[in-house]
Amino acid sequence: MADRMESLLESAPPAAAARALEETDAALERWKRVLPENDWPAHAPYIAEIRRLKRERNAVLLAHNYQMPEVFHGVADLTGDSLALAREAADVDAGVIVVCGVHFMAETAKLLNPSKTVLIPDPDSGCSLADSITAEDIRRLRARHPGVPVVTYVNTSAAVKAESDICCTSANAVEVVESLDSDRVIFLPDEYLGRYVAGRTKKDLILWKGHCEVHEKFTGSELCAYREDYDGLMILAHPECPPGVLAEADYVGSTAGMIREVAKRVPRRVLLATERSMSDNVAAQFPEIEFVRPCYSCPHMQRITLPKILDSLQNLRHVVEIDPVVAGRAREAVRRMLDLAPRTIR
Ligand code: 13P
Ligand code: SF4
Repeated sequence: MADRMESLLESAPPAAAARALEETDAALERWKRVLPENDWPAHAPYIAEIRRLKRERNAVLLAHNYQMPEVFHGVADLTGDSLALAREAADVDAGVIVVCGVHFMAETAKLLNPSKTVLIPDPDSGCSLADSITAEDIRRLRARHPGVPVVTYVNTSAAVKAESDICCTSANAVEVVESLDSDRVIFLPDEYLGRYVAGRTKKDLILWKGHCEVHEKFTGSELCAYREDYDGLMILAHPECPPGVLAEADYVGSTAGMIREVAKRVPRRVLLATERSMSDNVAAQFPEIEFVRPCYSCPHMQRITLPKILDSLQNLRHVVEIDPVVAGRAREAVRRMLDLAPRTIR
């Protein structure tokens, strides 16, 4: 693939390369606030070609908030948190959906669009939470706790969703748990999100020991140290962080919730206790705010690069397929979540 990319760049005549730069100027305006301007000429031909191919293929590109800025600002049609992407996927008109995110997000898009072509530029972009639990684990838990409903976080495989009663995201987890007619709920697989929810409901939650490999790196003492170093710092944290981190935060919520809170409060200084690229993406939108950026990146999100997106559109790969029986049951669990609280956001 590297050869094809090189030939694409080399074969671009100077006029075409200049046009690519011109066409991508609006994105550059946002992007140059957060990344070296010198990188732009390398990205511009990819961005211009990806945009052209999107039109040709009638494709729409969904990007999670953790995508790198050149993807997020350069080529995405719709951006957001897992809940927003699931909703957007349910409403998409285009015949081809390219998901710039991790594999479970592409599966969710496919569940909601069984007749459309859903592509993921790198099928190996996994997630430590999704990898922490299997469908068999859920069947065993159900046998141990008969009649107790199962809520699974969307950060799971379709096979796991198929074993669940209802899904949730970090934006609606409390509401989903509260909606169930049972005093006990099995909540999987994120232990820390589960503990966060348990603190906001009277229901008894049975948890699993899954963790996000990125958010579990943050510590409360690290955030205290940042507060001492940066006067007036506002700390916003994702509920996948350990409890000591959430206790130190001024706000806890989904990635979309954090962005909304920053937009509402416009603090002088901000630290987002979450994946690093999101700070770059949000900083590009709020030049007046100073972003303090701990360097914890999600290696799976970063697998989605401009060359891979171009390859995905050129060759219509990698197509996301789900066994129809599994898909039918998993879709029900996602649909129940979307029907429950169409606009609930935290
Ligand atoms: P959000 O649903 O808040 O976007 O989070 C998804 C995720 O993977 C967090 O690590
Ligand atoms: Fe999974 Fe964590 Fe990456 Fe989110 S940041 S996709 S939870 S590994």
